[in-house]
Amino acid sequence: MKVLVIGPGGREHALVRALLADPFVHEVHAAPGNAGISAIVPTHPVDAVDPAAVTALAESLGSDLVVIGPEAPLAAGVADALRAAGIPVFGPSREAAQLEASKAFAKQIMAAANVPTGMARVASTAEQAADALDIFGAPYVVKDDGLAAGKGVVVTADRAEALAHAQACFDAGGTVVIEEFLDGPEVSLFVLSDGLNVLPLAPAQDFKRIHDGDQGPNTGGMGAYSPLEWAPPGLVDEVIARVAQPTIDEMAHRGTPFVGVLYVGLALTTRGLRVIEFNARFGDPETQAVLARLKTPLGGVLLAAAKGELDRVERLHWSPQTAVSVVLASANYPDAPRTGDRVRGLKKAEAIDGVQVLHAGTARKLGKVVSAGGRVLAVVGLGDDLAAARAKAYSGLAEVKLKGGQYRSDIALVAAQGGIVVASPAPSPVTAFSAGSASTPAGE
Ligand code: AMP
Ligand code: GLY
Repeated sequence: MKVLVIGPGGREHALVRALLADPFVHEVHAAPGNAGISAIVPTHPVDAVDPAAVTALAESLGSDLVVIGPEAPLAAGVADALRAAGIPVFGPSREAAQLEASKAFAKQIMAAANVPTGMARVASTAEQAADALDIFGAPYVVKDDGLAAGKGVVVTADRAEALAHAQACFDAGGTVVIEEFLDGPEVSLFVLSDGLNVLPLAPAQDFKRIHDGDQGPNTGGMGAYSPLEWAPPGLVDEVIARVAQPTIDEMAHRGTPFVGVLYVGLALTTRGLRVIEFNARFGDPETQAVLARLKTPLGGVLLAAAKGELDRVERLHWSPQTAVSVVLASANYPDAPRTGDRVRGLKKAEAIDGVQVLHAGTARKLGKVVSAGGRVLAVVGLGDDLAAARAKAYSGLAEVKLKGGQYRSDIALVAAQGGIVVASPAPSPVTAFSAGSASTPAGE
């Protein structure tokens, strides 16, 4: 099978690596890729958000499957164009991708499908925003209702800051979703779907803030680990039964079936699980950690999803090891990242057993790797437990040199110390669990 991967980031580097490891995949191409991807497969300088250009490339390569990584091509209708041309594609249609592109739409679907999520109000004026902030109280959660790569959300105890963020979104012509604050640990669960059936990957945890101790602004994600030893038994089954399957069913019922990966971002609150957000794609940098443990060949699974045959795939198999990914970001990320700096030490890092270096914002200039984006790369460490996987990831990172580079030193640290506690929710109608069909062991 020939596969074309669309996207420029670390998630796509991880997808390409996993696809190359599938014995039924004999050719992988990427567009546009980055310096790490172009070192292992042919890359093509195509505009990933141009549906006609991507379709023409897939046709010229004779691709049997196109895998779309980021949200922007999905929102631009790239999957629709490929499907119209008869090319199997892993990634939702533009309409189905609204689950990510519009937070207000996602809330509507969750309400219709009875999916547990935070209470929220849409606001389009300062007055509405102020009212909504006062209804929910502090801490305040204000979300830009559009694609913002995880950076459009402000969570703050400062009412003036919350209002200022809302005003900035209005000034840019947008609306905001104001939401009740959800406490408790966060989980990212990726659920593959063919529009009807669902198949969960192993859950991961992402670190959204730029600085240690969850300080500073939100980013696209500074690190991740998988699996979650602390996850309550039956968590994945519960998410499938209460969130993923009802959402997929609702999308199918509306005539906009969702084919691809439904990224369920959850908070395990004192009142039970709540969806924080949906994304219509794999998460970054969770994918780097999750796929590092996947034993089942990926290409066949994604093709089955693209062709509506996911029911033929048995449950996925995972390495017993733990994976930790730590992102190296450029100076000034997430505001105005500096680019064009040499990235050194990559070979030394990659040479360490149990370490992978997955490029994100990198480019090749005069034969050398330079930074070309906010998140430059992720180092993934594999080990027998979280402490060992952390040690591997940080030993790899210690070899990589980037002027002004920033990374968090506490990725997976609290979990490694056994410090994550999930409250057992008091039974209530909204948390009542109806038995699901999927069966997956805890933490997988
Ligand atoms: P989102 O773009 O909706 O994923 O939000 C980005 C991040 O902001 C989430 O991963 C959370 O860390 C935080 N966040 C979003 N919504 C809430 C909420 N209702 N309560 C607490 N934290 C939130
Ligand atoms: N790591 C969060 C995301 O991919 O949106």
